Amino acid sequence: MNKGIAIYPGSFDPPTNGHLDLIERGSKIFEELVVAILRNSEKSPMFSVAERFQMLTTLTAHLKNVRLDTFGGLMVEYAKSIDATCVLRGIRAISDYEYELQMALLNRKLEPTLETVFMMPADKYSYVSSRLVREVAQLGGPVKGLVPEVVEHKLRQKLEPAYKLQNIRGIVETPRKRKKKA
Ligand code: PNS
Repeated sequence: MNKGIAIYPGSFDPPTNGHLDLIERGSKIFEELVVAILRNSEKSPMFSVAERFQMLTTLTAHLKNVRLDTFGGLMVEYAKSIDATCVLRGIRAISDYEYELQMALLNRKLEPTLETVFMMPADKYSYVSSRLVREVAQLGGPVKGLVPEVVEHKLRQKLEPAYKLQNIRGIVETPRKRKKKA
């Protein structure tokens, strides 16, 4: 086991089975792993930071050397502030590599003492991303097997009112459309 603190930073919007797989792998090789949720992302998130924090807390409760935190600003500054020596990032496919390499090298330029460690999630999660999970869920598709059950439940809770509204609109709008055609 590696001595010291590692951070696993990300958006986790929402956390996927791939994220969880990586956290479990990381927890086996680092003494302490801090899962750090970015607070000031430019993207407009589906889940609030508090919701993501809560989901990840539940999902990692069985891992005693994993803790949750949030951060804003530069990741390297946050890493320094908690004495982390490593950054953990996942690489699913070659398509991830270019962006991850660029980020790792820029982070090294900003803070040469901070090492980035890449790990691969299980191959069955190699096509899973938060973005695609959000898209499938927003379009009413099944996300079973892509995200933990807790997250599946939260997605349903968040999106069900929208589905219901769409259905109500469908019922109300159909007769009007028919009227116009007649
Ligand atoms: O899950 P994501 O969205 O791929 O995570 C990206 C994240 C949060 C690791 C990255 O955007 C980040 O570290 N942002 C903090 C700001 C920062 O340090 N930017 C310079 C990166 S080289």
